[in-house]
Amino acid sequence: MERRTKYCGEVNEADIGKSVVLQGWVNSVRDHGGLIFIDLRDRAGVVQTVVDPQAQPEAFKTAESVRDQYVLEIAGEVVRRPAGTENPNISTGQVEVRISRIEILNTSLTPPFPIEDGITTDENIRLKYRYLDLRRPEMQWRLFLRHRVVKMMRDYMDSLGFVEVETPILIKSTPEGARDYLVPSRLYPGCFYALPQSPQQLKQLLMVAGFDKYFQIARCFRDEDPRADRQPEFTQLDLEMSFVRKEDIFEVVEPLIIQIVETLSDKKILYKPFPRLTYQESMDRYGTDKPDLRFGMEIFDVTDIAKTCEFQVFRNAEQVRGIKVEGCADYSRGQIDDLTNLAKKLGGKGLVTIAITPAGIKSPSSKFLTEGEMQAIVERAGASVGDLIMIVADKPKITAAVLAGLRLEMGNRLGLRDKNVHAWAWITDFPLFEWNEEEGRWDSSHHPFTMPYEEDLHLLDTDPGKVRSQAYDLVCNGNELASGSIRIHRRDIQDKVFRLLNLSEEQIQARFGHMLEAFEYGAPPHGGIAPGVDRLVTLLTDDETIRQVIAFPKTASGIDPMTNAPSPVDEDQLKELHIRIVKDED
Ligand code: AMO
Ligand code: AMP
Repeated sequence: MERRTKYCGEVNEADIGKSVVLQGWVNSVRDHGGLIFIDLRDRAGVVQTVVDPQAQPEAFKTAESVRDQYVLEIAGEVVRRPAGTENPNISTGQVEVRISRIEILNTSLTPPFPIEDGITTDENIRLKYRYLDLRRPEMQWRLFLRHRVVKMMRDYMDSLGFVEVETPILIKSTPEGARDYLVPSRLYPGCFYALPQSPQQLKQLLMVAGFDKYFQIARCFRDEDPRADRQPEFTQLDLEMSFVRKEDIFEVVEPLIIQIVETLSDKKILYKPFPRLTYQESMDRYGTDKPDLRFGMEIFDVTDIAKTCEFQVFRNAEQVRGIKVEGCADYSRGQIDDLTNLAKKLGGKGLVTIAITPAGIKSPSSKFLTEGEMQAIVERAGASVGDLIMIVADKPKITAAVLAGLRLEMGNRLGLRDKNVHAWAWITDFPLFEWNEEEGRWDSSHHPFTMPYEEDLHLLDTDPGKVRSQAYDLVCNGNELASGSIRIHRRDIQDKVFRLLNLSEEQIQARFGHMLEAFEYGAPPHGGIAPGVDRLVTLLTDDETIRQVIAFPKTASGIDPMTNAPSPVDEDQLKELHIRIVKDED
C-alpha cells in the first residue's frame, strides 16, 4: 500500500495533469465497450476512474475482478472528462482518473442493502449492519454534522470561561424521574452502582467546589421505554453556573442555539430573542408545556358561557375550551367524525364543532345550544366566515391534552408546520410538584433540587401544588430541547422538599446524605440546564427519530441488533457477582 495523496471526493480540476493515489470503496463498476469505469468512494465523496485494456493490460485484468464495496488502491493521472460526459451533480464531475495501477486491498461480500442514499430498508436490518448503513453518504453527513454541533458547543463554552469536567459513570443513583441502570459490585456482594441519569448531583457538587462555570458533553443513562425522541443512553450539553439567576443561564444558551442553527443549517429562526411563556400561559394558550409556536390557533375559554346553557355536557364540565381553525367550515361529516375519534384517542369524551358558513352558523350540537350561545362562542373565538370551531368540555388536564393534539393535527393538515422554520421559546415557572394519582403523593416536576420562588415558600406548608419553581425548559417546534433550574442551596428548604416528596429521614440520608452534607459547607447559589444533543441535531436534520443521528443506537424496543445486546452472560460471571437469575413464574 502506498501513501494516499488525496480523498477521492476532493479530486478536482486543479489536479488535472497530476498523478494521484486514491484509496476507497467501489461505489460501482461499469464495463463500457472495452473500457472499465470504477467509481471509487471515501468519506469525501466519489470520483470516476477508468482503465483502458490497451494502455494498462494488467490493471484492466484486476479491474475485471472488482466488485461493489471492494477496497481498492488506485494510482493514476487526473484528466478532464471528454466533453459531454461531465457530471455537474458531483464536485469531481469535471474530471476522471486514468488508472495506471489497481491494488485490491480487500474484497467484500455483497451488502444486504445498497450503500447509497434514500434506501427504504427496514431499520432493524440497517442497525444490524450499522457499519454498512453508516458507510452511506447521508449517514456520514449526519455524524459529521453532529461532530460540528458538539465542536461548536465546546468552543463556545470554552470562550465563555466554562471548564469541561468529566464525571463518573459508576456512581450512586442520581434520579431524574426514570429507572436506574444498575451495575453489580463484585467486591461488595449485594451492592450496586447506578449509571447516572444525568450528572446533576455531581455538577452541583462542582459548584460547591468553586468551579463556577462547568460544562460537559455528558452521556446519560435512563431505563425507560425508548421512543422516537428517547434512547436509553443519550447525550446532553450539561452545564452549571454559580451566583446566577435564570436570565444568566438563558444568556449563555440562547446565543449558542442561534449560532448552531444559523451556522450549521438553513433553518430560519422565527423569533429572536426567544419568547418566554410561563408554564401556565403555555398550558392556557396551547394546552401543552412544549408548544409549537410556528402557528397561532390559540385555545380560548368559554367555560362561563357554557355554565348557563342547557347542554349537559357543557354545563356540568369543569372547563370548556376550544380552538378556531381557519378555512375548514366546509369539513364533511366524515372529516368531523375523524376529528372526534382523534379527540377520543387523546383522552376526550367527544368533540363539539361549530362551522361558520356563508349560510350561517352550523353545528351538530345546535339542538343543545341556543343561537345566542353559539354566537357568543363564535365571538369569543374571534371566528369569521369560513372558520371551524372545535370545543372540548372536561377537566383542565383533558381539555389541554385534547386541544393540544387537535391543534397539532390541524397545523399539519393546513401546512402550518414548516420544517425549515424554527420557533424556539423558553417556558418558565413550572409547578414545583406534580400530584401522582397512582401513588397518592407529590412528585418533583423537574427534580428534587429545584428551587421554589422565594415568594411561594410559604405555600410549601399549605398548598404544595401551587408552589412555582425556578425551573425552565427550552422548546422548539413542539419538542422539549432542554431543561434546567435554579437549585436549592439551603439545607432547610431542601429538607422540606424531601419531606413533601414523602421521603423518610432514613431514605433522605441514604439517598442524598452526601448532597445535604456538602450543602453545609458553603454551597453557593447556583443553577444550570442541559440541552439534549441528540434532539438538537435531529432538529437540524429533519429526522423523525434521534436514532438517525446516533452512531450505534438501540432499536425502539431497546436492543442492539448488531451485537445482540442485551444478552445472557456466563454462569461464572454471575457467580463472581453473587447474582442468581430467578425466572419469572407465570
Ligand atoms: P432532563 O431530564 O429534562 O433534565 O433532560 C434534559 C434534556 O435531555 C434530553 N433527554 C433525552 N434525550 C434523548 N433520550 C432521552 N431518553 C432523554 N431524556 C432527556 C432532552 C431533555 O430536554 N439534570 C437535568 C438538567 C438540569 O436541571 O440541569 C436533566 O437531565 O433534550
Ligand atoms: P352525547 O351527549 O354524548 O351524545 O354527545 C353529544 C355531542 O357532544 C357529540 O357530538 C359528542 O361528540 C359531543 N361531546 C360529548 N362529550 C363531550 C365533551 N366532553 N366535550 C366536547 N364534546 C363532547
